[in-house]
Amino acid sequence: MRKEAVVAENLKKKYFTKKRKGVLKAEKEIVEALKGVSFKIYSGEVVGLLGPNGAGKTTTVKIISTLLIPDEGNAWVYDYHVVKEANMVRKHLGVLLSVEKGFYGKLTGRENLEYFGLLYGLRRDELRKRIDYLMKLLELDKLGAADRLFEEYSLGMKARLGLARALLRDPPLLLLDEPTLGLDPPSARKIRELVKDLAHKEGKAILYTTHNMFEAEIVCDRIILINKGRVVAEGTPEQLKSLIPAIRTINMVVKGSDNVKPILQSLNIESYKIERANGIYNIKINTLKPEELLGELLKKFVNNGYETISLKIEEPTLEDVFIYFAEKGE
Ligand SMILES: Nc1ncnc2c1ncn2[C@@H]1O[C@H](COP(=O)(O)OP(=O)(O)OP(=O)(O)O)[C@@H](O)[C@H]1O
Ligand SMILES: [Mg+2]
Repeated sequence: MRKEAVVAENLKKKYFTKKRKGVLKAEKEIVEALKGVSFKIYSGEVVGLLGPNGAGKTTTVKIISTLLIPDEGNAWVYDYHVVKEANMVRKHLGVLLSVEKGFYGKLTGRENLEYFGLLYGLRRDELRKRIDYLMKLLELDKLGAADRLFEEYSLGMKARLGLARALLRDPPLLLLDEPTLGLDPPSARKIRELVKDLAHKEGKAILYTTHNMFEAEIVCDRIILINKGRVVAEGTPEQLKSLIPAIRTINMVVKGSDNVKPILQSLNIESYKIERANGIYNIKINTLKPEELLGELLKKFVNNGYETISLKIEEPTLEDVFIYFAEKGE
């Protein structure tokens, strides 16, 4: 049986804030960030927590990592309750928040890690070895960043140091809130590979948030989509794609005379877009029956003297799924 790393049940969280009304006036406002979120994460898997801005992802990460107490609901990390056994929970996880606070600007990266390591109760000699290892793993040594002051760090260096801190205790659970934000493409790729290895080779459980759908698709074994404080869909990227209406786009590029529109109309195609440049037509057709339509289309265009340059059926992407569920929640 797979081991449950995180169990979250019906998490609810409200924020009480003030909304500015002019210079001196403010109105009280209640933001319902989570309206009952439940999910599970198992050891050895990367689970993507995706959703539009303000959906409640960071709030969820903060509750699981004991940084925030839920108003209602419960969550456990390896069977330890996030509120009642917060100390034990903290020992089992590493967290990286997208807006990294808590590092000391006047300390170097290495000194910052030493500080947190000692705070976590790691032995000095062990800690030194671990920091050397992490500096190498995250290539902070290569960037010459290990012994530079944190306040001089670039965005990418900060993200790497955040991940190094999350890994300091070698915890079985990692909560990574947008870990590749601001990283250049090779660095982002490196982090993705590392995250996958940590889950698939070392058996860690990883909760991963990102707004990069390409990244979510290649990194995450499973995805939880949230919107406005609720889970709206859950599954592998493939399963999620099969949830959205089966509309496909046929993308056709043809060359020939100017009667593309009448041809499409003769086939009763209602939803299409045509772009024209130098006698070449790029046609996008939305349809529920792409396979049936394809043969007819080809025949008509050939009979009308068109040369077909390319033809493909576009499968829905994770981005389509994301947009579908985000718009559905409006
Ligand atoms: N400290 C806070 N005080 C008041 N409201 C907050 C606070 N933190 C978050 N919120 C509100 O709670 C909601 C959920 O925010 P949260 O940061 O969890 O979203 P998110 O999914 O992480 O979004 P993003 O993709 O932009 O990071 C938003 O409406 C946000 O404005
Ligand atoms: Mg966030």
